Amino acid sequence: MRLQSAITQPKIGTIVVAGVREDWFPTSIWYFDVEDCQDLNQRLLVAIEEERKKDSKGMGDRSTVLGWHSQDMLHQNEAFKDFVSYAIANVLEVAQFNRWDLSKVQLNLLNCWANINGKFAYNVVHNHPQSLLSGVYYVQTSENCGNIFFKDPRDVAVMMAPPVDEYTVWTFQKIVYQPKAGRMLIFPSWLSHGVEPNLSDEDRVCLSFNVG
Ligand SMILES: [Fe+2]
Repeated sequence: MRLQSAITQPKIGTIVVAGVREDWFPTSIWYFDVEDCQDLNQRLLVAIEEERKKDSKGMGDRSTVLGWHSQDMLHQNEAFKDFVSYAIANVLEVAQFNRWDLSKVQLNLLNCWANINGKFAYNVVHNHPQSLLSGVYYVQTSENCGNIFFKDPRDVAVMMAPPVDEYTVWTFQKIVYQPKAGRMLIFPSWLSHGVEPNLSDEDRVCLSFNVG
């Protein structure tokens, strides 16, 4: 039987068909905006440039292609103190929403690193193993500097996807965020994501971290 005909018959006898939908296993991506971020971002840019001067090669074998990836313990560096405080405050908000019992588990900032993606640099799809939450903060962005995208973690849900007349949170296979200076995204570390190539002439600069 084609479902189309059933859809036009909402009544079975005198009973109105009305299913109750319950939603489970949602995936949240949070964002936080710093008001008047210019001063903070300027200081962070200087500190990141200092790091690059010290270590122009950076860490290899990461998701960055053609870009620069700093060493990953920047949170121990005094120059990133304000940034770290902001990241921790935001992580605690997410933890509170998730009802994590912080009297029984201690969250730690595990690592923190900077990425500079110059023209055409991008990040391959990856996730962040051995951590709970991950975050990224945009220090310098411009139009077309490379959007970050997140993939539907329910891999099998896309194996047969009917056409839709409008995409919704139930049918998106990928969600894209345009980076904005002063914005921090926080997401589950297992959520696969990547960064599109920087097509602008300006460096795309961000700071990332893991919490576990
Ligand atoms: Fe990442």
